[in-house]
Amino acid sequence: MIRLNRLIAQLLFLVPKSLVEIFAKQYIAGETLSQALEKTRELNDLKIDVTLDFLGEDPQKKRDCRAAVDVYKKAIKEIHNRNLKSGISLKPSQMGLKINKQFCFDNLHDLIDHARKHMVFVRIDMEDTSLKEDTIDLYLKLKKEFENVGIVMQAYLRSAIADINGMIQAHANIRLCKGAYYWEDRKVAYKDMNIINSSYAYLMEKLLSNNCFTGIATHDEKLLFEAMKLIDKLGVSKEKYEFQMLYGVQEDLRKIIHDHGHSIRVYVPFGKDWFAYSVRRLKENPKMVSYIFTNGIKN
Ligand code: FDA
Repeated sequence: MIRLNRLIAQLLFLVPKSLVEIFAKQYIAGETLSQALEKTRELNDLKIDVTLDFLGEDPQKKRDCRAAVDVYKKAIKEIHNRNLKSGISLKPSQMGLKINKQFCFDNLHDLIDHARKHMVFVRIDMEDTSLKEDTIDLYLKLKKEFENVGIVMQAYLRSAIADINGMIQAHANIRLCKGAYYWEDRKVAYKDMNIINSSYAYLMEKLLSNNCFTGIATHDEKLLFEAMKLIDKLGVSKEKYEFQMLYGVQEDLRKIIHDHGHSIRVYVPFGKDWFAYSVRRLKENPKMVSYIFTNGIKN
């Protein structure tokens, strides 16, 4: 499965960007903050919460990281002024983690402080394993000072059990996902989807039964039903969990969960730098496979 994903991703890099864009659009709110805020309002009207993600990974220059901080600050202010139900999600690399850890910490500190003043929650996304230890370290430092910050754990990592035990001890606020960086080495990540799903179910039970706030971030029907069963069995209170899904994915399923009375949050990306994010989404979309083989490959 992972090998197939890798192949699909490589093929996507051969497809003209304009063609990828047609399919990518379903996953992105738009290129501008105002488009993202409009989508947020639409989702809020359906009683769905949002987390806004300004697209951009791995900027090479400090000034680009600072520009991203400024966009997020503007987003936070607008969320507050427009009374929207939304947090923000950001990538440590976008805040400069690959440039300098202290620089990244300062950017995160600045943003989370700004968000706290505007009563907005900040979720630090998890990227590939080369950044994992630093991301956890930064999160734990920031958590000592701020309550409005959470992190992400990836079930495909072999280290996930140990990391989650640490997070439970720290009373962390967690989003649990399967993990999107399909090129991870088998020494660090499980490659078999059945194992990844078992790991997800195990970690989800651990988090929910240990009173950690859990963002159940998956579109996997089986896991979603297991989650609902577990929530009933453990009597998990509404303040301790929510379901989370990506914009443009499995909207029917989103409605089923919502109609069953569970809180749901949608991850809404926006910005011009949509390519890397969209490639990760498209390779998770089975319909893309046949499309790629019948259309659009260059040469
Ligand atoms: P899986 O991929 O098995 O899909 C389950 C079902 O949903 C299948 O039927 C599948 O076809 C369908 N589906 C999934 N993706 C689809 C798509 N793009 N288009 C159409 N159908 C699709 N990862 C990470 O490493 N770090 C992070 O910080 C985050 N953050 C994050 C936030 C939120 C809110 C979500 C929902 C996910 C993430 N992820 C993430 C991504 C996550 O790790 C994972 O790559 C995707 O959610 C896909 O995994 P599923 O759990 O949906 O299962």
